[in-house]
Amino acid sequence: MNRFTGRTVILTGAGGGIGRASCLRLASEGAKVVCMDIADTREETARLTTESGNEAGGSGVHAPIDITDPEGVKEAMAAVISEHGPIDALVNCIGGGQPLPSLEISESDFESMFEFNVKSVYRCCWAVLPHMAERKTGKIINFSSVAGRSASVLQGAHYSSSKAAVIGLTRHLAREFGPSGINVNVIAPGVTGTARIVAQMTPDQEARAIAATPLGRIGSPSDMAGVVAFLASDDARHVTGATIDVNGGCFLA
Ligand SMILES: NC(=O)c1ccc[n+]([C@@H]2O[C@H](COP(=O)([O-])OP(=O)(O)OC[C@H]3O[C@@H](n4cnc5c(N)ncnc54)[C@H](O)[C@@H]3O)[C@@H](O)[C@H]2O)c1
Repeated sequence: MNRFTGRTVILTGAGGGIGRASCLRLASEGAKVVCMDIADTREETARLTTESGNEAGGSGVHAPIDITDPEGVKEAMAAVISEHGPIDALVNCIGGGQPLPSLEISESDFESMFEFNVKSVYRCCWAVLPHMAERKTGKIINFSSVAGRSASVLQGAHYSSSKAAVIGLTRHLAREFGPSGINVNVIAPGVTGTARIVAQMTPDQEARAIAATPLGRIGSPSDMAGVVAFLASDDARHVTGATIDVNGGCFLA
């Protein structure tokens, strides 16, 4: 089933674990995916995405973005819309944490965390929403975390707070832009085995996460990619403002 034939999706964080798996999955169902990232790994993702899209007519191209640069985000998104538009979906897959005990989190740690996890989503959405609203159609998928639904066992309180904020931002946009034909949803992954997390997690933390997960394993990037594809597709046409937990049933490890 090629749900994305003739559709174009922008994905930020395309060089990372969940981002890359999502690009490959979308292309395997026919999407043209614009793989955006600050890192050169986006080029490899675009190549693999084209390979993955081979049978379904999907493909990958890549473009740089630094989500900490407000003007740069506007320019990068405008260039992508002009070169590859119209854009049918935007997946905001950039984010990350910092494992600090609460009382060691400084003002500047807190601010950088919100800059990276929340304002990045704000910037990318604001750059693409006018284009989608004009077309009266679009799907936006943001990334929160189990930390934003419960509490993080690997990262600090500033991470949990920032990921709760992404849920609030998503709900608000869903309400405001529903009448413009735009669906805005958020995925809340549990512990997921991307390179960043595998490097951070101790064997003890991994064993505890698995033991606390009813489905008996930690998540994989492809577990997330399947849900990204669902939310970006017409199958999710009546889903908006939703937080989808993809955590094997584990809300606190
Ligand atoms: N992996 C997990 O266990 C897990 C759990 C819960 C939530 N999440 C969330 O899922 C999303 C993806 O996580 P992941 O583990 O795949 O991440 P990752 O670290 O593998 O990938 C993140 C990508 O963002 C890019 N990036 C970093 N700074 C950037 C910048 N300034 N501008 C542009 N790109 C930049 C990196 O180059 C990298 O390719 C994040 O929002 C994360 O918070 C992940």
